[in-house]
Amino acid sequence: MTKSTILRAVLPGPDPVLVIGAHDGLGAKLAEEAGFGGVWASGLEISTSAGVPDANILTMTEFLDAAIEMNQATRLPIVCDCDTGFGNSNNVIHMVQRYEAAGIAAICIEDKLFPKVNSFISGRQELAPIAEFVGKIMAAKQTQETEDFVVIARVEALIAGWGEDEAIRRAEAYHRAGADAILIHSKQDTPDEIVRFLKRWDRRSPVVLVPTTYPQLTARQLYEYGASMIIYANHGLRAAIRAVSEVFHQINHTGSTATVEERLVPLRRVFELQGMIHMKEQEKKFLRAGARPVRAVIPAGGDLSLPEDLRQLVNADRPRALLDIYGKPLIQRQVETFAKLGIQDVTLVADIDSRKLLVDTLRVHGFNGSGLLDTVLSGLTAVGPYDGITVICYSDILFDERVVRTLVDFDGPIGILVDRSFKTDDRYRKKALDLVVTDPPPSNSTRRLRANQHYQVKTIGKNFDWREGHFEFIGMMGLNAEGYRVFMEKARCAEAQYRDQPFCEARRFQEASLTDFLQKLVDDGVPVTAIEQDKGWMEVHDFEDYRLATEQISRSGN
Ligand code: SPV
Ligand code: MG
Repeated sequence: MTKSTILRAVLPGPDPVLVIGAHDGLGAKLAEEAGFGGVWASGLEISTSAGVPDANILTMTEFLDAAIEMNQATRLPIVCDCDTGFGNSNNVIHMVQRYEAAGIAAICIEDKLFPKVNSFISGRQELAPIAEFVGKIMAAKQTQETEDFVVIARVEALIAGWGEDEAIRRAEAYHRAGADAILIHSKQDTPDEIVRFLKRWDRRSPVVLVPTTYPQLTARQLYEYGASMIIYANHGLRAAIRAVSEVFHQINHTGSTATVEERLVPLRRVFELQGMIHMKEQEKKFLRAGARPVRAVIPAGGDLSLPEDLRQLVNADRPRALLDIYGKPLIQRQVETFAKLGIQDVTLVADIDSRKLLVDTLRVHGFNGSGLLDTVLSGLTAVGPYDGITVICYSDILFDERVVRTLVDFDGPIGILVDRSFKTDDRYRKKALDLVVTDPPPSNSTRRLRANQHYQVKTIGKNFDWREGHFEFIGMMGLNAEGYRVFMEKARCAEAQYRDQPFCEARRFQEASLTDFLQKLVDDGVPVTAIEQDKGWMEVHDFEDYRLATEQISRSGN
C-alpha cells in the first residue's frame, strides 16, 4: 500500500486525521512515535530551519529534499506544503511529477501569487485570480500518475481579508477543478469564521484546518463541524526553539553543562532515534569485516560485587564494572579495547541501570543472580547461538587487544586464556586464584618458542595448593559456534541435574563459578584448551590491583 492510499483511506474517515508540522527526519520520527496520522512538511518550519524567511526564498528542490528526508524517516504519509506551486501551472506540473515520484502522499498548494509570504505576515497577501489557480489544480490532477495521490487546494481568501463569500466561491471552484480536499486558512484568534465556513461548506469535500491562532476547539470538535484533517503546523519547531535557546544560554552563562543535564535526553535516546539499534542488528546479519565475527559477553553480577576497600571508591554499591580507573569506568575500557579489534557487539550481563552507563554502544542484559555461572548462562542464552566467536570476559579485568586477538585466532571450540606469572610473584599467591593444571604440563624453561602455547585442561578450580597449579585462568575465554552449542547443551543438562545440589567446588549449582562448569566439561570428556598468555592483562580485585592499574594506565597516558 502506498502512503497516498493510506492517507486517502482516512480522508474523510470516522475520526479527524491529526497531522503535525516538521522539517526533518527527526521531526517525522517523533511525529510517528507520538501517534500522529501524518506529517506536515511545513514551509514555515523548513525555511526557519534553514534560517531564511518563509517567503519562497528556498527553491522547490530544497523543499522536496526536506520532504524526502521526512518521508524516508517515517511510515507516516507526508503532506507537503508546496506554497503556490513554485511558479505557474508549468511549475506545478514539474512539481507534481517530482513529488509523486518521491513517494510523497499529498501536496498542498495555495491560491496566492508567487512569491508568497507566510500567511501570518501582514501586507502583501495577494491572491491569484481564481481561473489561474483552477488551472494549477487541473494541471496537478492531470499530471499525477497514481490514482490516490492527494492534491489539496488551500484557500487564502480569509487570510487576505476578502471575506467568507469569496472563500466559499474559491473553495467551490477548486473543488470542481478536482481538488481532493480544501484547506481553509484563517489568522483570527477565534474559530468563529472557520466554523461559519464549515457550516456553509457542509462537507462538500474533505476540509483541512490549520488552527495555529485559534486553539480553543479540539480536533474532535472541529471534526464535528466538518473538518477531516487538522494540521498543527509549527508546534514542534516552536517548542524546540524555546528548549534549545534556553539550554544554550544557560551553558554559555554558567560555563558548564551541569545545570542543564536534567533537561537533556540521554545519548541513548539519540541513538534510538537514529535507528542505531536497528543498524546494529543489520550489521550482525550482513557486515562481515574480518574473517570471523566476534562478540563479547561480560558477566558482572553475583559474587563480583566490590570488596570493601574498593567500595569506598564509589558512592553506591555498584558492580566493579563501573569502577572508575584513571577517568574511565572499567567497562568502558573493556569496550574500547574490543572496539580496537572491530568488536562492536558487546553485552554486559548485570543487574544494573543501563542509564548509568556512559557507553552507548554497550548492550545490557539485566540479570540478578548470585552465581557467576548463572550470570554467564543467562547472558549466553540472551545473545543466542552465533556463527562466530563468543568471547566471555570477566568484568574485573583490564587487557589489551593482543590478548583478545589470541582468543580470536584460536581455532577450537572452547579455549581459555591462562597465565603463569603468579609462579614468580608471591603477591598473587595469597589470592584465591582460579588454578589450572594442564596436560602436558608447561615446560620449565623461561624461554619458549611459541608465545601462545596450547595445552589441554585437566583440572581447574580454587581449592588446591598454588604449587600444584600450572597456570591461572585470567577470566577470558572463547567459544566458536560448535563450542557455544556444546557449552549450552552441557550447561542445560548440568543445571537440570544439579540445581540446588553441590556442584564441583560450589555448594549449589546456582552459586557455581564458571570454573566449576569448565571442570565439569573436562570431566565429561569435552576438550577445553588452555592458551598461554603472557602479559597484556591484569585483574582489579583489591585496592592494590586498583592502584597498580591506575599507575600503569597513567604512565601510558590513556
Ligand atoms: C506552514 O506551516 O508553512 C504553513 C502554515 O503554510 S502557516 O504558517 O500557518 O501559513
Ligand atoms: Mg507554508
